[in-house]
Amino acid sequence: MDLPFDGAISRYFENEAPEAIRQAIKRYERGDILDPSFPYSERLSAKTYNKELRILQIELVKMQAWAKETGARIVCLFEGRDAAGKGGTIKRFRENLNPRGANVVALPTPSNREQGQWYFQRYIDHLPAPGEIVFYDRSWYNRAVVEDVFGFCTPAERERFFAQVGDLEKMLVTDGIHLFKFWLNVGRAEQLRRFIDREQDPLKQWKISTIDVNGLPKWQEYSKAIAETFLRTHAPFAPWTVIRSDDKRRARLAAIRKVVSALDYDRKSAASIGPIDTKICGGPEIWD
Ligand code: ADP
Ligand code: MLT
Repeated sequence: MDLPFDGAISRYFENEAPEAIRQAIKRYERGDILDPSFPYSERLSAKTYNKELRILQIELVKMQAWAKETGARIVCLFEGRDAAGKGGTIKRFRENLNPRGANVVALPTPSNREQGQWYFQRYIDHLPAPGEIVFYDRSWYNRAVVEDVFGFCTPAERERFFAQVGDLEKMLVTDGIHLFKFWLNVGRAEQLRRFIDREQDPLKQWKISTIDVNGLPKWQEYSKAIAETFLRTHAPFAPWTVIRSDDKRRARLAAIRKVVSALDYDRKSAASIGPIDTKICGGPEIWD
């Protein structure tokens, strides 16, 4: 089959990937967790996952009904390295919601016209109206991380971003928007394993981009940009929630649980939501 990604990822794996990462992936067996610092040795079982997901999705349905009744506005912003699981997590949030009022915003590379605008402008266009939940699959934080790593913005533009982002988020929050900033944290071996999987599966190839391929040797550059982002944008009014996402199932449950725990909607069942798993979900201190 003629696919656009012709083995660049496998070649990176064979020729360039750090030895420990290569060995971990070679030993991989279905279901393994590759990150040695991950707090669980096994993935969550499908059975437990499906049971908990259902309970949490019922809470999300109640939450959406409440938002529609009261006019609440909710923003869930998802960031993370490539293949961290942003799209898959958003999909589980929306699975049983009325799609009208639960939009995903996954903006393409800025056009020439957008490049000349105030940086935040094109994101602001998509903020929720009363009753709506908006999911940003990547967000204005592109400027803090991927644009920095690839040199798509100047250092001065990035500084201006940091100078403005806190004020912007404060405005959103003081206007009453419920803002959740998620950072999905995927380990290096698991990320590479997911890329290889995508490269080999014709139905998953669309998820790979040249950014993913060219980003492979830039792990450390990413780490530096991410650490700085937390340092400068983790604010009391707009904190980051970091979620360890080597186990996708636990990550999805944790993200949904975080949102329904934080909001005070009608008919909420705190008992069925259960406690947040602090080994999986926390602040920037659990990121590495
Ligand atoms: P995704 O991981 O969301 O599928 P990519 O990996 O292709 O997308 O790109 C990562 C991010 O980098 C995207 O949000 C994309 O818009 C952004 N990006 C890619 N090229 C540029 C560019 N030339 N200038 C600014 N942003 C870019
Ligand atoms: C993810 O899986 O994190 C994104 O939604 C897709 C990607 O990064 O390629």
